[in-house]
Amino acid sequence: MLRGVWAAGAFGAVLLLWIGVFEHRTAAGDPVGRASGVPVPHFAPGTRSFEIGWRPDEQLVALGERLFFDTRMSATGRTACASCHDPRYGFADPRRVSLSDNGKPGRRNAPSLLDVGLRPSLMWDGKFHALEQQVFGPFASGEMGIGVEHAAQRLNADERYVHQFREALGNWPTPDGMAQAIAAFQRTLVSRESRVDRLLTSNDASCLTTLELDGYEIFSRKAPCGVCHRPFPPQADGRKYRRPLFSDFQYHNIGVGGRYAAPDAGRFELTRRQPDWGAFRTPPLRNSTPPYMHDGSLATLEEVVEFYSAGGIPNPNLSPLIRPLHLNGYDKSALVAFLRAMGE
Ligand code: HEC
Ligand code: HEC
Repeated sequence: MLRGVWAAGAFGAVLLLWIGVFEHRTAAGDPVGRASGVPVPHFAPGTRSFEIGWRPDEQLVALGERLFFDTRMSATGRTACASCHDPRYGFADPRRVSLSDNGKPGRRNAPSLLDVGLRPSLMWDGKFHALEQQVFGPFASGEMGIGVEHAAQRLNADERYVHQFREALGNWPTPDGMAQAIAAFQRTLVSRESRVDRLLTSNDASCLTTLELDGYEIFSRKAPCGVCHRPFPPQADGRKYRRPLFSDFQYHNIGVGGRYAAPDAGRFELTRRQPDWGAFRTPPLRNSTPPYMHDGSLATLEEVVEFYSAGGIPNPNLSPLIRPLHLNGYDKSALVAFLRAMGE
């Protein structure tokens, strides 16, 4: 048994604590806006990683879960990983962009962490390749307000943590140990099987409506979204675990964020190659949550489909695959219906 990842008691307690924090922050005014009335499409409490074949180290996962929700790892004592990766929203952030511990808005929307263990690259610009490496990011970028060494020191002052680290890793709390534990916990965040999964892994078309199947046709051929949003990219283990990810894990400019004056150059910031200007990693669609795009600029799937139908936003680096599609009303609703079915 995987201890308590979804166990209502412990989970609820942490959540309550955290919701308090969340209310506090939004009460102070939410400068970045929030998508409203948003369902959580891809989050199924009860799905556990062992159901798709992983056998995680239970002690390490329990430690990682505790750390993930612990606001003591931030300067003000108000921010945890879960502040921006909210389990109520599929471990994503419903705000357009996230707020750092100091209350300042960042540049990007926080993606869902469901199935994150299957992704061969992380972040909108592909900056990290391993979960263990990524954990240091929020400390280094100021999102947590303190450095990772400082956070580890705080943990060393807590006897229960010292005990848990010793049991799980045979060591006192260290940044590397924190990274291992939090990464192990994140690998247990697995989405449930959806109707689109069944279509793609069992070839069972009966689980989709005619509208959704027409949407799939447009997605695969007419649009063609599936060239970039590949169900089973070769560099990820999606097929093995029956989880189509819908990303090629490559970088493309589709015009979001628009012009050269935009503050976010995407992949270019890492490679300094001009063709990468404004290019972002194709997001794995099966777990996308609103609002959409790296800057959270599109609130709904309907807006996303309008965006693509119009041909993205023209700019010198626009991918040749993005062009006006002139979709009619039926095509648009079919496409939206198919995108929704990915998480149902
Ligand atoms: C202040 C908000 C905030 C906090 C706190 C935060 N994150 Fe994030 N997280 C983000 C944003 C925003 C992104 C996307 C940033 C980017 O791509 O440049 C992100 C991206 C990620 C990703 C990459 C997912 C992917 O597929 O691209 C992982 C993994 C992740 N965060 C884990 C964590 C962990 C673990 C913690 C705690 C140590 C944490 N985050 C704390 C906002 C936050
Ligand atoms: C050229 C490759 C490419 C094609 C073709 C493409 N996309 Fe995308 N898609 C991307 C990239 C890259 C992003 C992220 C862009 C950004 O945030 O700047 C994205 C973002 C998205 C998002 C937002 C996901 C999230 O988590 O925020 C959705 C939904 C989406 N695409 C659906 C579609 C649909 C539907 C089509 C077909 C009409 C399509 N895409 C065609 C590359 C592509």
